[in-house]
Amino acid sequence: MQKPYSQACENNKQPILSKMSKHLSQAKSGLEIGSGTGQHAVYFGQKMPHINWQTSDRIENHQGIQQWLAESQLDNVKAPLEIDVEHFPPIEQAYDFIYSANTLHIMGWHQVILMFKHIPELLNPMGKVFIYGPFNYFGHYTSDSNRSFEQWLVEQDPNRGIRDIQDIIYLANSNQLSLISDWSMPANNRLLMFQLDAI
Ligand SMILES: C[S@@+](CC[C@H](N)C(=O)[O-])C[C@H]1O[C@@H](n2cnc3c(N)ncnc32)[C@H](O)[C@@H]1O
Repeated sequence: MQKPYSQACENNKQPILSKMSKHLSQAKSGLEIGSGTGQHAVYFGQKMPHINWQTSDRIENHQGIQQWLAESQLDNVKAPLEIDVEHFPPIEQAYDFIYSANTLHIMGWHQVILMFKHIPELLNPMGKVFIYGPFNYFGHYTSDSNRSFEQWLVEQDPNRGIRDIQDIIYLANSNQLSLISDWSMPANNRLLMFQLDAI
């Protein structure tokens, strides 16, 4: 199998790192949901060697992720767990943060709900959640390209779609998470950072 490759990952990895790394200097462990090709895991693992980066995805992406990991030879980036948010396996450890890029518009809304429902039990106290991707505000697209992108998404699968940031904040708040930052990113994307509420 040819190693999978995402040009978008190459374009967005440095801007994402520049925001995220400032908040992860003390972090020791992170779980990525929907690792895709594995490119983000390898890049972030190289740039933040103090973090044990746990990849995960649905089984069909594991071979590609394994190829990127094998080539990188990084001790701190771990082989993928099989995580489909519809069937979360029992997870033995909690993490300092969760990272998920370009997943919420691919999952159906009920899957997005399930993902957020599981997040608190996966996080250490004061753990952070980073979500990257395109979002709408109060039902409005932030660009014409996002409007076209959503048309294309829905043609592929009517359950897909660009999520409204207010809905995500509401869902997060319902699951003990508070929005800390909402950064504008290149190519009309956003990076959201949430933190688990203190008990
Ligand atoms: C557009 S890709 C993004 C991959 C990578 N994070 C990136 O930024 O390039 C969407 C990812 O979401 C994952 N995904 C879709 N539905 C999922 C689900 N129900 N549970 C877990 N992951 C899911 C896919 O397998 C895929 O890896």
